[in-house]
Amino acid sequence: MKKKVVLAYSGGLDTSCAVKWLKDKYDVDVVCFSAFIGEVPDKEKLKKKALASGAIKTYIQDLKAEFAQDFLLPGLWAHARYEGGYPLATAFGRPLIAKHLVEIAHKEKAQYVAHGCTGKGNDQVRIEVGVRTLDPRLKIIAPLREWEFKTREEEIEYAQKHKIPVQATKASPYSIDKNIWGIAIEAGILENAWTEPPEDAYVMTQSIAKTPKKPKYVVIEFERGVPVKVDGKRRALADTIEYLNKVAGQYGVGRFDQIENRLIGIKSREVYEAPAAEVLLTAHTELENMVMDRDFLHYKKLLSEKYAEMVYYGLWFSPLKKSLDAFFSANQARVTGKVRIKLHAGHARCVGRESKNSLYSEKMATYSEGDAFDHHMAEGFLKLWGLPYEGMGK
Ligand code: ARG
Repeated sequence: MKKKVVLAYSGGLDTSCAVKWLKDKYDVDVVCFSAFIGEVPDKEKLKKKALASGAIKTYIQDLKAEFAQDFLLPGLWAHARYEGGYPLATAFGRPLIAKHLVEIAHKEKAQYVAHGCTGKGNDQVRIEVGVRTLDPRLKIIAPLREWEFKTREEEIEYAQKHKIPVQATKASPYSIDKNIWGIAIEAGILENAWTEPPEDAYVMTQSIAKTPKKPKYVVIEFERGVPVKVDGKRRALADTIEYLNKVAGQYGVGRFDQIENRLIGIKSREVYEAPAAEVLLTAHTELENMVMDRDFLHYKKLLSEKYAEMVYYGLWFSPLKKSLDAFFSANQARVTGKVRIKLHAGHARCVGRESKNSLYSEKMATYSEGDAFDHHMAEGFLKLWGLPYEGMGK
C-alpha cells in the first residue's frame, strides 16, 4: 500500500500543483483538507477540483464555529494584537489547520502532512510547530520550499501540462489570507513601504472618503466575557463577528498599515483589515476597564503583549500560551455588561458602558453635588505615599 499525505489545500494554484507534485515526488496518495474559517465557497466545486488535481479523497469542513470559540475568543480575552496593531487573524487560523491536519492524518493512518506555505513567512512556522507539538511522529512536507518552480508562470505551465485545473480569473496582484477575524494583504506594490496602499487592495472596508457622514452606534452586550448580543439581537459568536465585519466595514473601521517583525528575521510591510476584531477588542477592553481593578489591568497589558507574540510565533499549543489563556479567562465571569460603540470615518470608539459588576462609582468620581469621596483622607495617604521619597530628588 502507498504511503499517505494529508495536504492543507486551498484550491489555489500552489496547492493544486502540490497535489500532483507530492504524488510524483514522494510516491504517495494525497488526501486534501480544506478548512473554511472565512467565506464558505462551493464545496462540490472544490472537491471536484481536488480530485481532478489527483487527490484520492477530500475533507472540506466549515470550521467557523470552532474557530470562533476555541481560537478567537481566547484571543479576544487576551486583547491580542501583534506589535500593537494587527489582531492576528492569520496567526489564529494556522493552529486550527495544524490541529485538523493531525486529526485527519490519524484517521487516515497517514505518515505525512503537507502545506502550501512559502519558506519566507510565519505561516510555515505555525503549521509545522503546531503539528510537531501535537504529534512529532508525523513527517512534514513543504512543497513550496522544495520544488523547482520559481515563478507563477512556471507553475501554470506545469498545471497545464498535467491537466490540473487552474482558475481562469486573473490572479490578484496581492497575496491574501482571509478569515472571519480579518484579512492580510501583502506583496505587489505594497512592498514599497512609502507607497500608500491603493484602494483596490482593501477588501473588507469602505474607503474612508466614502463612509457615511452620519455615525452609527452599535451596542455590544457581553455575558461572562462573551459577546452575545449586538443591538439586542442574540447571535452565535461567529455570526456576531461576520455581522460586525459588514457593519463596521462600511465605516472603514479596522484598517492597519504596519511594518512588522517576522519571526524569521525580516521586516515586512503588511496591510490588514479587521473591522469586527477592532470593534470587539475595543468593546471588551472598555468593559474590562470598568469591572476590573487597577493591578489586574496593568499587569494584564504586559501579558497581552507576550501572548500576541506567542501566537504570532506559532506557539499556540505551548504550555506558556495555555497558562496565559488560564490567566485571561480567570476573571471573565465579571465581564458582563454593555458597551456602546460609535462607528464613524474609520474609527470605532467606545462612548458608553454599563455593568452590574462596575467598579466605577459616579458618587465617588463626581466633582459636583453629592461627592462621597472623603477629601481629608487624602492628606494622610499622601504623607505615607511620599514618605520613602522625601529629599531623594535633590
Ligand atoms: N503577516 C501576517 C502574519 O504573519 C499575515 C500572513 C499572511 N499570510 C498569507 N499567506 N498571505 O500573521
